[in-house]
Amino acid sequence: MISETYVLSVNRKNHEVADAHTSESLLWVLRERLELSGSKNACEEGECGSCTVLLDGDVVCSCLVLAASAVGREIITIEGLGKGDEISDIQQAFVEAGAVQCGFCTPGLLVTIDQMLDADPDPDELTVREAISGNLCRCTGYGRILEAVRIASGNRKNQSEKEDSK
Ligand code: FES
Ligand code: FES
Repeated sequence: MISETYVLSVNRKNHEVADAHTSESLLWVLRERLELSGSKNACEEGECGSCTVLLDGDVVCSCLVLAASAVGREIITIEGLGKGDEISDIQQAFVEAGAVQCGFCTPGLLVTIDQMLDADPDPDELTVREAISGNLCRCTGYGRILEAVRIASGNRKNQSEKEDSK
């Protein structure tokens, strides 16, 4: 196995990854080397979505991406969604809707939903269901997650209407 040092851009900051094996997954490097433990490791084979991050704006399972292959690309994790100490609008909506039970699926869902609402602030239910189909939740039955998306989507629409009317 080859070991090397490289730099990853995570949540808009550069992080040096030293003496690393090129076979390490992005999920492993985020959690174990960079101490960003928000992305969860459940299946490690691309089935559950608990490890979801954005790679150049695309939703990916970080357990399936080699960390060394992400050099030069922008990685956003759950830790990068809020602003400073403030939680993001979608996190707030999850709280309001009571969409968190054990919480293991939550970081991956939040990343997926944030990207979806950036692309389409007013998605219909089929679009939402398709977008989150790769994020498995064994606790909630999804009803409260869909409600959280409705809350966040409504808030974003109100916000953009306010900005348009200025
Ligand atoms: S841990 Fe990556 S998809 Fe399950
Ligand atoms: S809240 Fe437990 S897996 Fe979704």
